[in-house]
Amino acid sequence: MYRFAIRVFGCQMNTYDADRLRTALIHKNWKEYPESAADVIILVTCSIREKAEHKVTSAIGRYDLKYRNTNSPIVIFVGCMAQRIGIKMAKKFACIKLVSGPRHLGLVPDAIEKVLKDGKRRFLMDDDPRELIDLEVVPTERDNPFKAYVTITYGCDRFCSYCIVPHVRGRLQSREHNSIVNEVRTLVNTGVSEITLLGQNVDAYGKDKVDGYRFAALLKEVSMIEGLKRLRFTTSHPKDFDEDILEVMDENTSICPAINLPIQSGSDRILQAMHRGYTVEQYLSLVERIRRVLPHVSLTSDIIVGFPGETEEDFQDSYNLLKKVRYDVVHTAAYSPRDGTLAAVMENQIEKKVKARRLNDINDMQSELTRELNEEYIGRELEILLDGRAPKGAGLFQGRTNTDKVVIVKACEEEIGSFMRVRITKGNNWSLEGERI
Ligand code: SAH
Ligand code: SF4
Ligand code: F3S
Repeated sequence: MYRFAIRVFGCQMNTYDADRLRTALIHKNWKEYPESAADVIILVTCSIREKAEHKVTSAIGRYDLKYRNTNSPIVIFVGCMAQRIGIKMAKKFACIKLVSGPRHLGLVPDAIEKVLKDGKRRFLMDDDPRELIDLEVVPTERDNPFKAYVTITYGCDRFCSYCIVPHVRGRLQSREHNSIVNEVRTLVNTGVSEITLLGQNVDAYGKDKVDGYRFAALLKEVSMIEGLKRLRFTTSHPKDFDEDILEVMDENTSICPAINLPIQSGSDRILQAMHRGYTVEQYLSLVERIRRVLPHVSLTSDIIVGFPGETEEDFQDSYNLLKKVRYDVVHTAAYSPRDGTLAAVMENQIEKKVKARRLNDINDMQSELTRELNEEYIGRELEILLDGRAPKGAGLFQGRTNTDKVVIVKACEEEIGSFMRVRITKGNNWSLEGERI
C-alpha cells in the first residue's frame, strides 16, 4: 500500500484526469493522504500562462529540498506542463521520477508502481500528436459526490495563435459516444446528479469522424439518461457552435441554460491575428440567436488583454463589447507569450505594465456588471443543487442554480446533494443570497 497526494492545476480537464488517476490508484489499494504525509505526490499541471507554470515550479522546488534530505516524497509530473518542459525540469529536480504527457495517462498508474519498485526514472511523452493511451476508468473518487466531469474530446485543432493547448494536448479526438454514455450512466448510478461534458471545443465533437454523430446528438442522448438531473458542457467555440445545439437545449430541460462562449477580443483586427475564425459581428449575431431561443441563458466568456499589437483603441473595443453583451461572468487574462506559438514571435509585444492596467480596468467594469446582473435575480424563484457549507457564516450553505450562480442559503448538513427551491433576496459580486420557499 502506498500513500499518495494529488494536486491539480489548470482547467477542468485536469480535474477530470486527476479524478480518474485517483480512482485508478484507489482501485490498486493505494490511500490518499495529506501532502505532508504522502510518499508520492502527483502533480497534474497546466501550461496555459507563465503564471500557471510558476506555481508548479515553486511547488516542485519545495518537494525537491525535502527529497534531497529524506529521499521522499517522489514527484509524478503529468499533464500539459509535463509534456511541454517535463524532460528539462527532471534534469534540474531529482525528486521527479515520472514524467507523462496528458495522452499517456493510461500508463501512469502502472508506471508509478514500477518506479517505486526499481527507483528508475521514466518518461512517457506524447511525441505523436494523435497517439492516445487513455485511462479507461470511471472517475468515481471525486471531491464532490453529486457532480462529475466527463471529457468528450481530447486535444484541439484550432491553433489560435496565442494558445499552447494544441501543442501539448495534440489533435482533436472525439471519444466514442457509447463510451461517454456508459460512463455517464455509471456515474448517475453512483449518485451523481450533475454532469459537465468537457472539451477545449465541445462543439467540434464528432467533426473528426465520418459517422455524422455530432455534439447536438450526443447532448440529446446524454440528457435523456434516466436519473441525470442537470447536464452542462464547456467550452463552446463561436465558429463551431451549430444551430442544432440550441434546438436540443430548448427541448431538454435537464440541459442547463448556460454557455461559455469565449470572445477573446472585441477588435476584428486582433481576432484575425489570433486566428479565431469569426468577426465581432458574426459573434454578436450568434449571441442574439442564442438569447432569442433561450431568454434566461447565462452567457460567460474569456477575454485576453494585451495581445501583441493591441492598441488602446482595440482594447476599448474589447471593453465596450463586454458592456454591450453583458456576460454573467468573464474570465480575463493578460496575454502571456508561450514558446512555440505564433503570437510569441509577433512584433509589438505589449509592455507588462500596460497589460496590467488594461486587465485592471476591464476587471473593475466587469465586476460591476456581474453585480448588476446578479441584482436582476432578486425576487426570482429558482432551484439550486446544494453543494456544501458556505465559506463563512454559521448554518449557511451554498448551492448552484442551473445558470451556475452560487446561492447562499440557510440549510442543514443532511440536505447537501439535494435540490431546493429558493427565492433570491440579494445579489452580490460573486454570489446571490436566497431563502428557502
Ligand atoms: N478552448 C477554449 C479555452 C482554452 S484555454 C477556447 O477556445 O476559448 C482558456 C483560456 O485561457 C482561453 O480562453 C484564453 O482566454 C486564455 N489563454 C489561452 N492562452 C493564453 C495566453 N497565451 N495568454 C493569456 N491567456 C491565454
Ligand atoms: Fe486554444 Fe483556440 Fe483550441 Fe481554445 S480553440 S484550446 S484557445 S487553440
Ligand atoms: Fe492548462 Fe492544459 Fe487545460 S494547458 S488550461 S491544463 S488543457
